Amino acid sequence: MHTPIKGFSKLSKEAKIEWISNEMFENPEQAWNTLKSYWHTDGAVQKLHDDFIENTITNYFLPFGVAPNFLINGKHYAIPMAIEESSVVAAASKSAQFWMKRGGFKTSIISTTKIGHVHFIYTGDEEKLYRFFKEVQPKLEAGTAELTANMRARGGGILSTALINKSDELEGYYQIETRFETCDSMGANFINSCLEQFAKIMQQEIGLTDYMSDAEKSIQIVMCILSNYTPECLVRAEVSCAIEDLNADEGITPIEFAEKFKRAVRIAEIEPYRATTHNKGIMNGIDAVVLATGNDFRAVEAACHTYAARNGKYSSLTHCSVENGEFKFWIEIPLSLGVVGGLTTLHPMVKFALGMLGKPNASELMGIIASSGLAQNFAALRALTTTGIQKGHMKMHLFNILNQLEATEEEKQTVAAFFKDKVPHHKDVVNKFCELRGVKSPSEISKNI
Ligand code: MEV
Repeated sequence: MHTPIKGFSKLSKEAKIEWISNEMFENPEQAWNTLKSYWHTDGAVQKLHDDFIENTITNYFLPFGVAPNFLINGKHYAIPMAIEESSVVAAASKSAQFWMKRGGFKTSIISTTKIGHVHFIYTGDEEKLYRFFKEVQPKLEAGTAELTANMRARGGGILSTALINKSDELEGYYQIETRFETCDSMGANFINSCLEQFAKIMQQEIGLTDYMSDAEKSIQIVMCILSNYTPECLVRAEVSCAIEDLNADEGITPIEFAEKFKRAVRIAEIEPYRATTHNKGIMNGIDAVVLATGNDFRAVEAACHTYAARNGKYSSLTHCSVENGEFKFWIEIPLSLGVVGGLTTLHPMVKFALGMLGKPNASELMGIIASSGLAQNFAALRALTTTGIQKGHMKMHLFNILNQLEATEEEKQTVAAFFKDKVPHHKDVVNKFCELRGVKSPSEISKNI
């Protein structure tokens, strides 16, 4: 336990680290050194990272990997992925390779509209509110013209505004629901600024009406905020091939594989317990690219899961059909992404990731990321319905265990060769490693290294 601190944010970075090291660690020097070892050697790059958030004390690294051989709409991509989970990149690469030989991924943008709301309370005469909205509606657009000028010049802006009555769910609750096109930016700041301006205009204008009582004029603006649920910013990615081209794995015919795979997807469509894990696997492929390209993975996660539950029951984000000799597997997901503004212009690795992808626009990136999610899900279901998931997982896991044990390269190769045809359970790997080192137990190993 440590004592609370006042004015932490005002301390220098060094003083913050000193406080944390002294208050929370038995060996403050070691704690300091750990943090410092993750500082960037280039002061300018470090300063950039320091300034992304408040109270930065160091950097937190994630591996930045690449899944090559994605063929999407006839174009080849090597997809950057920032993720800590072993086997995600390997699985994506394997899937990409598989589908590259079968025509690749086909994507289409269904729509790119984003939504935000002014949430407010009005307990007066409803008709008067609708009359007021009709009068104020053109003023909302006119009063945000300056804010929207750049976006309009790029082909975006405010698409529509509507007054929505939600008072049967919460007394006096109404919304100004607004649709936006934000082109190549994710648009959160743009949307929120417009909505806040709307609220100001509404409050000013309602005060000027001569048909509302004072009580009716005092609407309460509860909040102005974009919705991260973007069911109208939707992309579809699909793979398909003749069933006989599936030639899955030993011991299972293509048609058996296709039917079993379809059944696995069907289980995720009807069973929320399975759907959650199934979609988690999809998000392995999605989040990793969302992160690498500097996008907001929390927003994407939130939107995808709400979308997965849109019919009242949490369900699969992917679907599969096996018909007329054809295997078809597809995903349809909301992805609100940006390739300009925010981290995309600031973070050197984000610029690099977007560079690797050939500087896609937001729509192209939606297709790439949807394909990555579909590829990940294909790899997971393929493994699950054939060899089981542990074979691939455990191979990567084996190297993680050996790294924890600080095994040498030679030791890693020896242990890996030993487990080539066995499942490398943690205990067995440690035992094998002990045997190599000539020690009896893991505790002796830690003394030894
Ligand atoms: C592990 O991160 C993801 C999987 O569990 C996904 C799935 O079960 O479909 C393998």
